[in-house]
Amino acid sequence: MAKKSIKGQINFYRAMLAIGVIVTIMAVKGLLNAAPALSISTVHEGPPPAKECLECHVKEVENVPIMPHRPVSNCVFCHEPKDGN
Ligand code: HEC
Ligand code: HEC
Repeated sequence: MAKKSIKGQINFYRAMLAIGVIVTIMAVKGLLNAAPALSISTVHEGPPPAKECLECHVKEVENVPIMPHRPVSNCVFCHEPKDGN
């Protein structure tokens, strides 16, 4: 009787662990997919280092979207360049 309920608990935690791992993977993928890819244009050729990205994307210049989040040291980790850049 006692043995059986321990087995049941172990299986319960195994199931919870599996769900946790799946949710974590989905959350990370969702974050990466939410970031728009770099547009194909000469300004994104290279791609330029993060310092140059910031120089364009924190100023209020016409047609340049302002970075809507905190500055980080690596932009292309999330905003991957498209083929052709
Ligand atoms: C010389 C200025 C300049 C630099 C440097 C620059 N950008 Fe841009 N960026 C622009 C302009 C202008 C646009 C809007 C027109 C376009 O999409 O081509 C833009 C658009 C974007 C967009 C929106 C794309 C979309 O489809 O919504 C993202 C994201 C972006 N840039 C990220 C970056 C990152 C990351 C870097 C560095 C690797 C970078 N930019 C470097 C000028 C710049
Ligand atoms: C951890 C992932 C991540 C990193 C790293 C990152 N971004 Fe973003 N960025 C995002 C997400 C997600 C969005 C979309 C936010 C939204 O739509 O509200 C975004 C949006 C943007 C936009 C607005 C695009 C538009 O079309 O309006 C710009 C510009 C931008 N990021 C620039 C940068 C720059 C420059 C860097 C490096 C200094 C950078 N990002 C690093 C995740 C990231």
